[in-house]
Amino acid sequence: MYEILKKEELSPHVYAMEIAAPRVAKKAEPGQFIILRVNEEGERIPLTIADFNRETGRILIVFQVIGASTMELAALEVGDSLLDFVGPLGHPSEIRKLDGTMVVVGGGIGVAPTYPIARAMHEAGNKVIAIMGAKTKDILIMEEDMKAVTDEVLVTTDDGSYGIKGFVTNAVEELVRRGEKIAQVTAIGPVIMMKSVAEATRPYGIPTVVSLNPIMVDGTGMCGGCRVTVGDETKFACVDGPEFDGHAVDFPGLMSRQRMYRDLEAVEKEHVCR
Ligand code: FES
Repeated sequence: MYEILKKEELSPHVYAMEIAAPRVAKKAEPGQFIILRVNEEGERIPLTIADFNRETGRILIVFQVIGASTMELAALEVGDSLLDFVGPLGHPSEIRKLDGTMVVVGGGIGVAPTYPIARAMHEAGNKVIAIMGAKTKDILIMEEDMKAVTDEVLVTTDDGSYGIKGFVTNAVEELVRRGEKIAQVTAIGPVIMMKSVAEATRPYGIPTVVSLNPIMVDGTGMCGGCRVTVGDETKFACVDGPEFDGHAVDFPGLMSRQRMYRDLEAVEKEHVCR
């Protein structure tokens, strides 16, 4: 069992939890993910690791309540335990010294998993700029954390309530316009956002990594649930990813697979709400 050591509501319906998982924390690297289960009946929830501490054995997860399983997770409190907490899974992000600036782009709760990547790339000697997007100012998360591990933070809000009015792609364009020598962009967030970022960087030939979080079941490459087309190849996000070349991912295919279980999920959410 994996005890919840800390719980915080970062913004409405978005929670951070620190979980006691020493064996996972010991091996965790930026970019990897875990799969958790709240209880025996629970759905497996894949979440990219938002932070880890090898000394204390803690893993930070950040999640948004969107369906039945995340509702059940959010209902747990400090002192409660999770049944399963499997990881670290997937390949870590490639951490190295770049010939130019590293830009991490996080949209919504996607900001959380960009944090350990930004920190590690900064520690590797890179200039790191973070672009953080949210619909409005009140749902922006982890701004101060991100400022502490980067050289610059650009915030965008859809409604202009804070930072640049518009989308994360506007901030990417702004960096290009001002002549920033961008060596790599890593974007994590809603699929549509990662697709837009990849489209924004493509004309400039900026290498762009996206972290995919499709439907997952076993997380070990056996079930095929997380398959995604990258270039001409079928890949499994759990074992081949979760990071892929954003310019090669078949985003329309990915989006249609994600819609497959929407009706069933709505029924289950209704059931949990009752
Ligand atoms: Fe089953 Fe990836 S989750 S193959």
